Amino acid sequence: MKAYNDITALIGRTPLVRVNHLTREHKIKAQVYAKMESLNPGYSVKDRIGISMIDWAEREGVLKKGGTLIEATSGNTGIGMALTAAVRGYKCIFVLTDKVSVEKMRYLKALGADIVVCPAAAKHGTPDHYVETAKRIAQETPNSFYPDQYNHPANPEAHYRTTGPEIWEDTDGKITHFVASIGTGGTISGTGRYLKEQNPKIKIIGADPYGSIFKTYKESGKVPEATPYLVEGIGQSLPVGNADLKIIDEIINITDRESFDLARQLSRREGIFCGGSTGTNFAGALRVAKDLDENAIVVFIVCDTGEHYLTKFHSDEWMKEKLLLEPQRITAGLIAETKNGTSPQELIFVSPDDTVSDALDKMNANGITQLPVLEGHESVGSLRESQVLTKLLADRELLNAKVSEVMDKSFPVVDVDTSINEIKSKLVRSPAVLIEDFKRITGILTRGDVLEIHR
Ligand SMILES: Cc1ncc(COP(=O)(O)O)c(C=O)c1O
Repeated sequence: MKAYNDITALIGRTPLVRVNHLTREHKIKAQVYAKMESLNPGYSVKDRIGISMIDWAEREGVLKKGGTLIEATSGNTGIGMALTAAVRGYKCIFVLTDKVSVEKMRYLKALGADIVVCPAAAKHGTPDHYVETAKRIAQETPNSFYPDQYNHPANPEAHYRTTGPEIWEDTDGKITHFVASIGTGGTISGTGRYLKEQNPKIKIIGADPYGSIFKTYKESGKVPEATPYLVEGIGQSLPVGNADLKIIDEIINITDRESFDLARQLSRREGIFCGGSTGTNFAGALRVAKDLDENAIVVFIVCDTGEHYLTKFHSDEWMKEKLLLEPQRITAGLIAETKNGTSPQELIFVSPDDTVSDALDKMNANGITQLPVLEGHESVGSLRESQVLTKLLADRELLNAKVSEVMDKSFPVVDVDTSINEIKSKLVRSPAVLIEDFKRITGILTRGDVLEIHR
């Protein structure tokens, strides 16, 4: 029978997958490979350290039967630990920040873990900070083990023992550049150290979000003030024990926009469905690879699966809300759906047979200054308050006239899939455009709705 004893036997030995379309598009000659850590049983690189820290604690006699594992995590380390804990009968309490995606929180609960959520805004060293909270819970919980992934030697050691050798063997020792982001620093430090020991010429590249301290800290020895960014699981506001910056040759800063854009492109163009930190790594890999020839072999880490972020950057609505969506994906339908942060609004309109007085009442009641005139599902005209009032000044009797007698021509009609750029060009000449979906007018977009997107 070909079978594994339990799920932890599937951790590691992840394959390398070549990136094809996107490298060609960026005119890159070097070979760029994704190390598919998203194929681990917990769908992230952190399964490796989950089991390795638990093995350490069992070996050292720190963790006893029925004990509780406690850790501060952005989710993936928790998932990795929870898998092994399920198999070996340990309880888990994980402390996360409210920046962590709801998918990862639910995943942890599904694996049987308890979670505690702290504010991401809490400063290091303050009682509300997630690391301080985890420490406190560990002190208060008997028979517990708090590995502290930021400092525990079994973290980089797992990568030194497994990730590094796998990459070395799978590239037949030909890897020239290794790119990884830095959360705890375990991946880059452990893998980097192994690879440098095999061939000191291999370049180890850190990819770090703008706002994190690592680049400035490495280059100047100074710790700058960190600023917020949206990519999860990587970057820090203070140096961490497991991030051995001496192993790293260069650190490249990457924006949220580029990280998410490239993670989305990896999914769409290469079928590599991944998280935001993978986008950060791939951005670093592209940056490095652009100056290399076809003999160079660049390997970057696919840290985790895109499924952890379906309600975040893999959703057009979330990307638009964060002002990060590419213009061609900001469509009439999406703007209408998400305008004012509310659910789709009922379209307010009049019919040609309504009276002008009713139309003005409707505008007043709804605080709007224009109205489409619809007959059935078709747009037959438009009313603008200022123009109607001008006509009324000349002839007050028009108040009782039919809308059809005073209306102007219809607002332009666009399909739900029309992009924001085309809508903008129409709004130069018209105060509003109407949205058509399956031959029905379903919505209206005004200049204000589009200006709200700040593009
Ligand atoms: C999504 C994600 N990517 C990357 C990393 C970085 O890995 P490391 O902690 O080994 O530096 C983490 C770490 O938490 C993570 O959660």
